Amino acid sequence: MRRLEVTSRWGDYPVLVGVGLLESLETIIAEGALQPPCAVVSDRIVAPLWGGSVAERLGIGLDEIPGGEADKRWSAVEALCGRWLDAELDRSATVLAVGGGIVTDTVGFAAAVFMRGIGWLAAPTTLLGMVDAAIGGKTGVNLQQGKNLVGAFWPPRIVIADIATLTTLPQRELRAGLAEVIKTAWIGDQKLLQLIPSTPDLGYRSLDPAGWEELVARTAAVKIAVVIADEREAGGRRALNLGHTLGHALEAATGYDRFLHGEAVAWGIEAVAVLAHRRGLLSDDGCARLRGAVATLGTLPPIADLDPETVCGFIASDKKRDASGVGWVLPTDDGVRIDQAVNLGEMISVVRLLQESRGKTD
Ligand code: GLY
Repeated sequence: MRRLEVTSRWGDYPVLVGVGLLESLETIIAEGALQPPCAVVSDRIVAPLWGGSVAERLGIGLDEIPGGEADKRWSAVEALCGRWLDAELDRSATVLAVGGGIVTDTVGFAAAVFMRGIGWLAAPTTLLGMVDAAIGGKTGVNLQQGKNLVGAFWPPRIVIADIATLTTLPQRELRAGLAEVIKTAWIGDQKLLQLIPSTPDLGYRSLDPAGWEELVARTAAVKIAVVIADEREAGGRRALNLGHTLGHALEAATGYDRFLHGEAVAWGIEAVAVLAHRRGLLSDDGCARLRGAVATLGTLPPIADLDPETVCGFIASDKKRDASGVGWVLPTDDGVRIDQAVNLGEMISVVRLLQESRGKTD
């Protein structure tokens, strides 16, 4: 088991990464002097796989929320808080979220606002959750106008990343999580790219458990370092948006039902690699390494049929919401540059190039 520490203005917390951690949850809670949770919240898919057994082990109730991106809404938070009130949870309560990023984002946000803030514990069960969503305290839900537009910084008291939960993760979700691993590795630990399985089609079997543990722990370590340096995203944390500007636009342009988040980010990383290479920020070798890493993910949902101008129109509206202005994250050979200006014409031409070079065959 690896233990990493996050320092936070809302309270420091550990991130544990290991195989079978959920089986020793009581010990982890006792040894961490954590308030035992009064409720477990999971989604409809994860509840029968992991949430139910966790609730049974702890002798507490299991609550289910719908697990889709479309369900990550105010209404889910309101319903959850209502049920917590009915169950007589008070200000001293702690809840445990068992699931992917949608579960931890929603439960974390409900915990942030219920009784003006109760404690919560995160047990991410997706690769993306383990390396990204559950770490760093961003919680929130979507509005009709876009993703994560309401939320709070409200870190969990602990993150328990049980590698065993990856055994039940669909192969597509696992590959989507690897896109976030590539992003994070590029920012802070490029040697980590060598640990990415060359046969992700094998899903969990593409690495041994120790390999997954190392991959998750090292990726989490990079994210933790970034978050500690800039918890409220005043600057450096924006590096974690590498690949996300086009990624979000692709998700929005396809109604959030073509790409998993990580798949859209994978296209976004390729696009900024091309752009940075054109600008001379990324060498031939750097561009080949970054695009090569994305290529190991295999076939992504296609972009060939999308109108580049329409997709890039979503970038403009996304950026208008960003008070810091039009800031792109572009890769360099040894990391990234944040707050780079990119005009829409440049972006449209890169999307066209990707459609011609790769999209049409996917
Ligand atoms: N997922 C990006 C961040 O936590 O800042």
